[in-house]
Amino acid sequence: MTDQWWREAVFYQIYPLSFKDSDGDGYGDLRGIESKLDHLEWLGVDAIWLSPVYESPMADWGYDVTDHKAIDPLFGDMEAFDSFLRSVHSRGMRLVMDLILNHTSAQHPWFVESKSSHDNHMRDWYVWEPGSDDHPPNNWVSVFSGPAWSWDEATGEWFRHTYLPTQPDLNWRNPDVVEAMMGVIRFWLDRGVDGFRVDAAHQIMKDPENRDNPPTPPGYVDPYKEMGEYGRWIHLWDLGHEDVHEIHRQIRKLTDEYDRGIVTVGEIHEFDPNRWLNYFGPGDELTMPFNYNLMVSDWTATAVRAAIEKVEAVLPEWAWTNWTMGNHDEVRIASRLGDDSARQAAVLLTTLRGTPFLYYGDEVGMLNGSNQGRDPWGDNVSFLSRDGCRTPMQWSSSPTVGFSEAASPWIPIGPDPQRRSVETQRSDPESLLHLYRSLLVLRRQRLSLRVGDYRTLDSPDADVLVFVRWTESEATTVAVNFGVDAVQMSGPGDPLLTVGGYEPYGELIFLGPGAVAIWDSTPPARANQVSSSS
Ligand code: GLC
Ligand code: MG
Repeated sequence: MTDQWWREAVFYQIYPLSFKDSDGDGYGDLRGIESKLDHLEWLGVDAIWLSPVYESPMADWGYDVTDHKAIDPLFGDMEAFDSFLRSVHSRGMRLVMDLILNHTSAQHPWFVESKSSHDNHMRDWYVWEPGSDDHPPNNWVSVFSGPAWSWDEATGEWFRHTYLPTQPDLNWRNPDVVEAMMGVIRFWLDRGVDGFRVDAAHQIMKDPENRDNPPTPPGYVDPYKEMGEYGRWIHLWDLGHEDVHEIHRQIRKLTDEYDRGIVTVGEIHEFDPNRWLNYFGPGDELTMPFNYNLMVSDWTATAVRAAIEKVEAVLPEWAWTNWTMGNHDEVRIASRLGDDSARQAAVLLTTLRGTPFLYYGDEVGMLNGSNQGRDPWGDNVSFLSRDGCRTPMQWSSSPTVGFSEAASPWIPIGPDPQRRSVETQRSDPESLLHLYRSLLVLRRQRLSLRVGDYRTLDSPDADVLVFVRWTESEATTVAVNFGVDAVQMSGPGDPLLTVGGYEPYGELIFLGPGAVAIWDSTPPARANQVSSSS
């Protein structure tokens, strides 16, 4: 059995452009990140997911790659990367890279070759379709809006792009493409990285017959989010094609050759529990698909419980999941839910059964900035601009927030760094930052929180979610009050940690509005005080 270190690890996503700028050019870089590893160690993070640092013209801020085996000069060079990786490992942490398989930059030498002529040896590395310039091959639209096909005047054919026209789709039905990308995976594993977050993992195979997608019925609500034009279609033929599983199996076969427990986490926005489960295969595909159910959940006890149980109900014993509430594509937690709920989110992320994935800055409750016209998605659909969640990490409350010496960073600083900075919150034991740290300490101390089973417990009130995580020898009970009223309930003794109003009153306790309590408790198999309500 290979090392499954990632089950018990806490992951932290770094968006490199915005974490720390070491050379004063206004863009975050690898030396900058390396200089801030103390923060991650202090917080209690075990592994880093690094968004792309590969050579790129930055049309989609690094998700448009021109050389998968080179570091973009904006971030440093290979020496800076190796030094960063050594530092990560020397602190006992691990590094997971972003792997962008679905497409490359249009400036990638492969695409430059491919579009140079019909009979170029790389023509078939991308997806080309004949036709006339007034009639795209089908009705597929790009995630970022507009047709998923662009006309190439010179060779008189259409090429497909799931994202920007400057991000042409690779043709994964061409074995040469598969081999080239497996070489990329090998390159980074040989360098010592510990795994990959696989970008757009269920988009890399599509219907070879190019069948039209049906429109969504009136009143349809996307379980993920409002997606503008993309959301007007049911993605029957351009998303989650069954042939994608074979590619995932090949990736797994390769990563299993390395015996240090390589993790692969797929960016798969799939909300049907059985279709989601399918991405585990029988354990021979990517290590796990991302689980976005908590991220899209309404913030009520009922909705959150449903989101958790939906996953718990389908997950087989051998499989392992993860929980996440934000990343470089989503509105920040504190902006979406407010500060009190952001504390509850911190508790849930770190106490549910599954690997937590945290996003930089959420530990100090960073808020969304506004659309700055940096993200190309925002040019097409302004409310989907991702600029807001990509603002510079707020290290201090100074005007530059300790991010960069540059007069103006690549993207303006976000709101309220006075209260929402590492510096400010480090000196306040009541801060969100200290809560995150305490939760990670608790998780490290308690086996039940890391690996224990999950069970929802009977709740004293419809607004309160109570659950237990337990092993044979240890149990941890968590109660979260989502309501606006204090709730009276019985608790199993002195709490290990509380958030918000908590008042013991004889045998009973009062859990204030928005409050949380975490107790050491008795494993349910041997206790009658705790009974399953489901
Ligand atoms: C993924 C990334 C997103 C990027 C897109 C295209 O969804 O998370 O940031 O724009 O893929 O690579
Ligand atoms: Mg820089």
